[in-house]
Amino acid sequence: QARPGATGDLSGRHVLISAGGTREALDPVRYLGNRSSGKQGYALAADAAARGARVTLVSTTERPAPPGVEVVPVESALELRDAMLARAAGADAVVMAAAVADFRPAERASSKIKKTHDPADPDAAPTIELVRNPDILVELVQQRGPASAPVIVGFAAETGDEHGDLLSYAREKLERKGCDLLVANEVGEGVTFGQDVSTVHLLRRGSEDVRTVGPADKSAVAAAVWDAVVAMRAAP
Ligand code: CTP
Ligand code: CA
Repeated sequence: QARPGATGDLSGRHVLISAGGTREALDPVRYLGNRSSGKQGYALAADAAARGARVTLVSTTERPAPPGVEVVPVESALELRDAMLARAAGADAVVMAAAVADFRPAERASSKIKKTHDPADPDAAPTIELVRNPDILVELVQQRGPASAPVIVGFAAETGDEHGDLLSYAREKLERKGCDLLVANEVGEGVTFGQDVSTVHLLRRGSEDVRTVGPADKSAVAAAVWDAVVAMRAAP
């Protein structure tokens, strides 16, 4: 449904969005993954295209591309990183909606890992060593340097715990990453991942204001994110 002023307010802009959960290969047939559905990233892409933007969607999922959206398929965090860094410089806004695995297997076996992988101990189970993935959002901020474009948006899936609430974790994450806008998602069992509605809090770097959206469907969340990006570009 059209909102006043929204139509066409991204025309002439190029936006770059990542979507879905990364898959970190163990061998040719297995990966470590997460429950991200990619729905929020696709909703962001669809809304940006409807508002007139040229949209590039770097995606780990096989969902159909929204109309007018260029999809760049990737699988792992390292592939996603290369795809994003190569395209960010020419974009007006970059949104990291992907659920990037924090770790990947240290080694990728070139052939299928067999159940009996150690002839000396036929019943042994393997130990998978993990290494840290690069923080793509931080690298995007570093690559931009002192320039004012692109506007860089991060997402944060937070539950809050005994050490802090969702908003304090989100504020800390926003400062640590150095992005311009952070969309903090309330997550938990059965909340957000794979669902059609979510509640998010929009935090801007350098501002104490928090805008809460929802529970709303992911297209309403997407619209609120683009509204915030458009507002930031209008008021530097
Ligand atoms: N992100 C990224 N590269 C990573 C991990 C996360 O670009 N290796 C991005 C996500 O796409 C998201 C934001 O950083 O936009 C926050 O992700 P999140 O997992 O909430 O933050 P982390 O820094 O990984 O912290 P933690 O998982 O410990 O909460
Ligand atoms: Ca993480």
